[in-house]
Amino acid sequence: MRFDVLTLFPEIFSGYMTQSLLKLAIDRSLVEIKLHNIRDWCRDKHKCVDDRPFGGGPGMVIKPEPTVAAVEAVQAMEDQPGHLVLLTPQGRKLDQPLVEKIASHERLLLLCGRYEGFDQRVTDILEPDEISIGDFVLNGGEVAAMTLVDTVIRLVPGVLGDEDSSRFDSFSYGPRLLEHAQYTRPREFRGLEVPEVLLSGDHPEIASWREKNSIERTRLRRPELLNEQQTND
Ligand code: 6GU
Repeated sequence: MRFDVLTLFPEIFSGYMTQSLLKLAIDRSLVEIKLHNIRDWCRDKHKCVDDRPFGGGPGMVIKPEPTVAAVEAVQAMEDQPGHLVLLTPQGRKLDQPLVEKIASHERLLLLCGRYEGFDQRVTDILEPDEISIGDFVLNGGEVAAMTLVDTVIRLVPGVLGDEDSSRFDSFSYGPRLLEHAQYTRPREFRGLEVPEVLLSGDHPEIASWREKNSIERTRLRRPELLNEQQTND
């Protein structure tokens, strides 16, 4: 899986990229991430990436020329172009089924905006897949891009230690419900005991307890997921 991230602030990613799961995946050549600074494609001597909006108003708009030049140059760096994603609060909302679709691409280009966003012609020309991570406003697309990378790499075969371990996650393929409660030692903590069935070694009974617990939590916390289930499957 190859990611190319286009941003005005590549430094934001450095801590995340040297973090455990992603770093391990990079070290094992399962994931590759290249950072590109859009500013490097500015052709004027002051390397100006933004300008005031036509029509007035607050904030600055990222200029179309360096952005389009950056995306085209980065696409040309490999034999196969990548699926271009623009992180924007105006995009379709990210959820696990969308993560699974995005993860099916061998190569992804993630375009991160700042300020008041990109000049509209960036979208008109490049026709990116516009994605939002939720109905709230971030200061830029970088945190959203990291969120997308984080969700996608968990689905790359070999990245998680146990091949199966993303299968039972909340929202994952299958029932798409919240995950059941988990317990570890000690058996009793401050008067609270681990449910007896989990200590029984009876695996069909454990599976049945977990399924019930998962449905019950979902009913209490996210009842709309139970209704969606009938429409999705
Ligand atoms: Cl992708 N970008 C920004 N700036 N804000 C957001 C977002 C993205 N998704 C939710 N809020």
